[in-house]
Amino acid sequence: MKEQIEKLKSEAKKFEIKTKEQLEKFRLEFLSKKGKLNDVFEDFKKVNPEEKKSLGQLVNQLKIELEEKFSRFNNELDSDKKEKNNTLDFTLPGDAMVLGSRHPLSIVQNQIISIFNRMGFIISEGPEIEDDWHNFSALNFPENHPARDMQDTFFVEKDMALRTHTSSVQVRVMQNQKPPIRTISPGRVYRNEAVSARANCFFHQLEGLYINKNVSFADLKLTLFQFVEEFFGKGTEVRFRPSYFPFTEPSAEMDIYLGTGSEEDIRLTKGTGWLEILGCGMVDENVLKNCGIDTENYSGYAFGMGIERIAMLKYGIKDLRLFFENDVRLLKQFEGVF
Ligand code: PHE
Repeated sequence: MKEQIEKLKSEAKKFEIKTKEQLEKFRLEFLSKKGKLNDVFEDFKKVNPEEKKSLGQLVNQLKIELEEKFSRFNNELDSDKKEKNNTLDFTLPGDAMVLGSRHPLSIVQNQIISIFNRMGFIISEGPEIEDDWHNFSALNFPENHPARDMQDTFFVEKDMALRTHTSSVQVRVMQNQKPPIRTISPGRVYRNEAVSARANCFFHQLEGLYINKNVSFADLKLTLFQFVEEFFGKGTEVRFRPSYFPFTEPSAEMDIYLGTGSEEDIRLTKGTGWLEILGCGMVDENVLKNCGIDTENYSGYAFGMGIERIAMLKYGIKDLRLFFENDVRLLKQFEGVF
């Protein structure tokens, strides 16, 4: 019996406890009802009375040792856990959340869209790979117009090209909808130009189209005045210059007045103070007919503006290429702008 007790003592001493699981194993092996300590107590009952006194002390000592080891490790593992929790300092400032930013072209495009949305224009879109008819013929471009030349247009195959303007969407809308039509079409367009600070082989336009009974040039002017006032601010001066587009008659270009107060303004306006921002006009009767609009009853206006040019103006960006390089140093400056 004595040996049994000694053996158990050294066994318990060697038992390694580093985790909660090991602690539980220790408890099951030594201290539980079916554990080894209980076996010792069972055997102890059978011991004859003379030996009981001395053996009793040993058994008690064993019990105390085992229980002490259990509670020591139990406390230790608990406080380990607490210590780990204490390494969290709730007073430290949190990690800053990195905010993404919208591209300046998206910001400007969204602002323009929201102004026209409020005037009742809805968005329509068309394909970027367009057939010759939608991009040119329906829009009254003569067969030998220079824009149809390979030098100006990227052809994908015969009669299929990357659209050179968003006016192609006008055609699709008029073909598919009945007047009254009031729509804007933002989108990417492509032209075969050498890349420079002022030109790129693709850029963005926003087209406007309004078809209804008795639409006049005065309606066009009113809409554009309203747009300029909202986008560039009250009191921004504008002027219309007669111009030519195959698909509008009469046609005009609209300039806004920047003045010649700064070198930048002089450069942008070539010394005149005026900067062209869009083309517009009354939709040519031929175009209306090509698209199945009843010209006896309906007329309309259209306008098209370049998003890049307006964004350059708004943010003082001097080189068009910056829009397409996606340099984070530029993009980061628009964090939180919508
Ligand atoms: N499509 C013309 C361009 O790309 C702009 C325009 C649109 C002009 C609508 C008049 C009417 O330059």
